[in-house]
Amino acid sequence: MTHSKAKKQPQGIILNLIRFFQIALYIPIQIIFIPFAFIGLILGIYKEMRIGKKMGISFSAIKTLQYRWSGHYFNVRLDSLSVAFIKKFPCESHFGLWSILGALVISKRLFGFTPSAIKLVEPEKTFDATAITRLGVFDRIVDKHIHEIEQLVLPGVGFDLIALNYIKNEKIKVFELDQVNTLNVKVDTLRKAGIEHDTISFIPVDYENESWTEKLLEAGFDKSKKTLFLWQSVSLFLEPEMVRDSLRKMADLCSEGSVIAQDFYSKAFLSGEISKMAIKQFKIFEKQGETTKFALEMSEDPELAVGKFLKDCGLKMKEYIQFGKEIGIKPFYCIVEAEKL
Ligand SMILES: C[S@@+](CC[C@H](N)C(=O)[O-])C[C@H]1O[C@@H](n2cnc3c(N)ncnc32)[C@H](O)[C@@H]1O
Repeated sequence: MTHSKAKKQPQGIILNLIRFFQIALYIPIQIIFIPFAFIGLILGIYKEMRIGKKMGISFSAIKTLQYRWSGHYFNVRLDSLSVAFIKKFPCESHFGLWSILGALVISKRLFGFTPSAIKLVEPEKTFDATAITRLGVFDRIVDKHIHEIEQLVLPGVGFDLIALNYIKNEKIKVFELDQVNTLNVKVDTLRKAGIEHDTISFIPVDYENESWTEKLLEAGFDKSKKTLFLWQSVSLFLEPEMVRDSLRKMADLCSEGSVIAQDFYSKAFLSGEISKMAIKQFKIFEKQGETTKFALEMSEDPELAVGKFLKDCGLKMKEYIQFGKEIGIKPFYCIVEAEKL
């Protein structure tokens, strides 16, 4: 046995012991929470599925918002605006989330017990924590460009409040686009939560039937200004031709120094080859009116495949982050930054 292996073994035993005690402490707390979790679950499902569907808003956007709530309470990505938003949001229950996740939140805060899905880790080393980690990656992208850009465009913004988190001290014009019902509920909830949002231009649009670029230009978008486009988890729900067309249009709107940041899922992930859980989630999306339609073939050389796709859309890939790459998981998700060719 090598010296380093001998050292690693006791370390591994200690970590396993810590985990064992954390679980032993977590179980009684969770038992206390069970009746609340039961009520909270029913309330949460009713609000996000029944009320959300009745109001005609995006279910996938509600789901992403839940991760922002979790990131905040698990102290991995602070986002007090999203928490204030959820408290007034008709399609989610703050109490429901607390009652379902409260035992875990308390266990994390008291003795560091952290569920594997609610961590902010290096993207290349995770599969389980993709939903939270990707929020962190998009934060980093905004951090990197915020002082250089003059415009921020979020097509398919959902209930993302990233712009409000960043533009306080910046002179940046922000354009948020999404379907009319989703945007109406967002603006109404921001108002009820007392969250200042006057600096944002909200542009209702349905990509499938309207020209989002025309609407963006009508709202005052300036093609000559440096812009960051944030397209997080939207292409997955669009027809492939619509994704190509949208990216070509974004390329056309880019001035020198503008950046497009977006994510791609792989065909293997969409088919359920990598995670059966993902398929279950997609079926729920479909039931709620959102079908997953677009993914890239990434099984051979994913970086090359993504770069080629972007090139076909008039874009040059500048950054490429492949989730799970260093832990031997088949390519399932990546985030890229691109600029006009
Ligand atoms: C998974 S959500 C992502 C929301 C947001 N980018 C985030 O990270 O929280 C997908 C978003 O794309 C929007 N979307 C999907 N199809 C659309 C379409 N045809 N026209 C406009 N928006 C659309 C949905 O309304 C939803 O808000």
